[in-house]
Amino acid sequence: MMDLSAPAPMQEPQRQYYFLKRARELTAGKERELGRPLTCCVTTFGCQMNARDSEKLLGILKEAGYQETQDENADFVIYNTCTVRENANLRVYGRLGVLHGYKKKNPHMKIALCGCMMQEPDVVEKLKKSYPFVDLIFGTHNIFKFAELMVTMLESDRMIIDIWKDTDQIVEDLPVERKYSFKSGVNIMFGCNNFCSYCIVPYVRGRERSREPEEILKEIRKLVDDGVKEVMLLGQNVNSYGKNLARPVTFAELLREVVKIDGLERVRFMTSHPKDLSDELIQVMAESEKICRHLHLPLQSGSSRILKIMNRKYTKEQYLDLADRIRKAVPDIALTTDIIVGFPGETEEDFRETLDVVRRVRYDSAFTFIYSKRTGTPAAVMEDQIPEDVVKDRFDRLLKEVQTISKEMAERFTGSCQKVLVEEKNSQMEGYVTGRLSNNHVVHFRGPESLIGQIVEVRLDECRGFYYMGSLTG
Ligand code: 5AD
Ligand code: SF4
Repeated sequence: MMDLSAPAPMQEPQRQYYFLKRARELTAGKERELGRPLTCCVTTFGCQMNARDSEKLLGILKEAGYQETQDENADFVIYNTCTVRENANLRVYGRLGVLHGYKKKNPHMKIALCGCMMQEPDVVEKLKKSYPFVDLIFGTHNIFKFAELMVTMLESDRMIIDIWKDTDQIVEDLPVERKYSFKSGVNIMFGCNNFCSYCIVPYVRGRERSREPEEILKEIRKLVDDGVKEVMLLGQNVNSYGKNLARPVTFAELLREVVKIDGLERVRFMTSHPKDLSDELIQVMAESEKICRHLHLPLQSGSSRILKIMNRKYTKEQYLDLADRIRKAVPDIALTTDIIVGFPGETEEDFRETLDVVRRVRYDSAFTFIYSKRTGTPAAVMEDQIPEDVVKDRFDRLLKEVQTISKEMAERFTGSCQKVLVEEKNSQMEGYVTGRLSNNHVVHFRGPESLIGQIVEVRLDECRGFYYMGSLTG
């Protein structure tokens, strides 16, 4: 029990539970005034880490008395932003205009912005000047303080801004509202120390911090007790997990413990940096059935010269050798990647090296990105930025190659029977459900909704490029 007449506790997470209770009182008052429940909408931009953070925001919002809606015309709207590429930022500004329209009609509406984009001082300046209708702005390092910030916001008419430059704090045991009952992301570390020269992430997510293995295992056991069958271990660079703990632990060691958890059926992880991927990890993947047959291994460029300027710390040959070793140890693995085209100074020859790696590794799928200049990163001030038409041409050629290969690669599983975790009702075809294979491919098949959350065996009858049509066996 929390005594609200006493001052707020200094210790976390107790302090946040105190503010949650205060928030609940404030929302209850507003509900009585309006004669209806209050609604909230959390919109997520960007990566899996942000998706997980949004589940934490929703956990707090629900405890504070808000009902979730997908409609942005709500009483409290939160944008959890991304800034990895320029167009992510532009989308947020565009949509804020729409929110302003809603707010004019619903004056007690509250708007909050958080996430990576808010860690950029220029963005906050622009918001203060041109978007004064925003009520709350906070960053990536103090998201655990959301309950406290919400109370400050609800009690004030001014724009509340709280951005931290960095933190070494990890606050455990706050409420979370999962999107899926049967699968969940689990943060194992925060931040990134790699400083790839094009990337803004280390500046907005701070230095690498790993959670204690006991905390991670405790969280996963609790999730499993709650019906979760699949977890995705999340970090910007999971392969350097545990290096900075008081008692260092490797990622492979952590995985060995995670797969021992009874009732947990599948383990995924994201993202791996090729420079830190150990033989020990390849071995653990090969040994454990529970570890999904999927590895996301960002290449970024196939040119050793560009990789050096990108500060990636591996060469084309080292990458190819690594991919080879992984495929030998785990033959049915699906390899996926991220590739950037148009990095400053990239020549036609460099680009052909990238195409060469794509043809040799034969990715199951690849995310291809046009290089985006991020202020504050070393690459932003490099000479020889590539003209738009040249980049566009390379991008189209790369995409064509990637798609052709993906289709060919997917064909290799056609006709096989695979275990599938059923994720949702198919929205296009009546009577169909959609699930995911261990290798992350998607399959649609006829089946009842009651299968959602279960692992079933499905025959992959037909490959349609990026997905399969299948049928339940047995
Ligand atoms: N421009 C384009 N793509 C980028 N990425 C990161 N920074 C940039 C940038 N400045 C891509 C990388 C990374 C993925 C998450 O986003 O490929 O792996
Ligand atoms: Fe960015 Fe490189 Fe860190 Fe990935 S590893 S988040 S690309 S700096």
